[in-house]
Amino acid sequence: MAILAVENLHRRFGGLHAVNDVSFQVAAGQIKAVIGPNGAGKTTLFNLVSGALTPSSGVVRFQGKDIQGRRPFEIAALGMARTYQNIKMFAGMTALENVMVGCHLRGKAGFLSSMLHAPWTWNEEREVLGKSMELLELLEIGESAHVLATSLAFGQQRAVELARALAMQPSLLLLDEPAAGLNIYETAEVGRLITKIRDMGITVLLVEHDMSLVMDISDEIVVLCFGEKIAEDLPAAIQNNPEVIKIYLGE
Ligand SMILES: Nc1ncnc2c1ncn2[C@@H]1O[C@H](COP(=O)(O)OP(=O)(O)O)[C@@H](O)[C@H]1O
Ligand SMILES: [Mg+2]
Repeated sequence: MAILAVENLHRRFGGLHAVNDVSFQVAAGQIKAVIGPNGAGKTTLFNLVSGALTPSSGVVRFQGKDIQGRRPFEIAALGMARTYQNIKMFAGMTALENVMVGCHLRGKAGFLSSMLHAPWTWNEEREVLGKSMELLELLEIGESAHVLATSLAFGQQRAVELARALAMQPSLLLLDEPAAGLNIYETAEVGRLITKIRDMGITVLLVEHDMSLVMDISDEIVVLCFGEKIAEDLPAAIQNNPEVIKIYLGE
């Protein structure tokens, strides 16, 4: 069964059809990418899937359930975590603390009571610390655990962001342009980390402008242009699709 199904999804902004009758499925365990030029509707699609925006019409099914009307935090609690096109690190917090916030969003003790160091949270706090450190090591930035997150290089901040998303124990991870703002070396690194996450059994839906990253790591690709799906295929076929080539060369 598909872990995510988008059915005839539509979102208007006034007279603009930002996402226009888009349907596709994401099979469990795969990296699926959505590509398209700037303004194609990728971020809007993401916001519709994660519950940050309400569709004008159409359905989003996550693990078989229609998630229409659910709030973003409820959808996150069902097992969908996301990262943002513009990296959002909590300022004044170390890399480790940023990941611990992700654990608290999932944990029993609320974020607030943990911040206030309520006694019933002590055990959980130690667990969260260990878990967060493990995630940073998994994403190969353990040595930066105690560095202020905002002072890290962009590529490392992306890795912290991925660790924070994984701390929510998602079954589906949504990544909005993980290569945005990264140089080619950092992009290749992030690509390797995303593959590692997929190999852990977590399904990845990736929205990306950078073709080289997508071609390297995706199992399947959906192409959006002016809000509409114009192709869906394996990377090799997308690479040779005349319409896709025209869009990317015409930019
Ligand atoms: N909140 C909004 N209000 C009005 N128009 C929007 C809004 N968000 C996005 N759009 C428009 O929708 C289209 C798709 O935008 P977006 O989803 O951000 O594209 P992408 O992420 O592929 O670059 C663009 O024309 C954009 O200007
Ligand atoms: Mg975008």
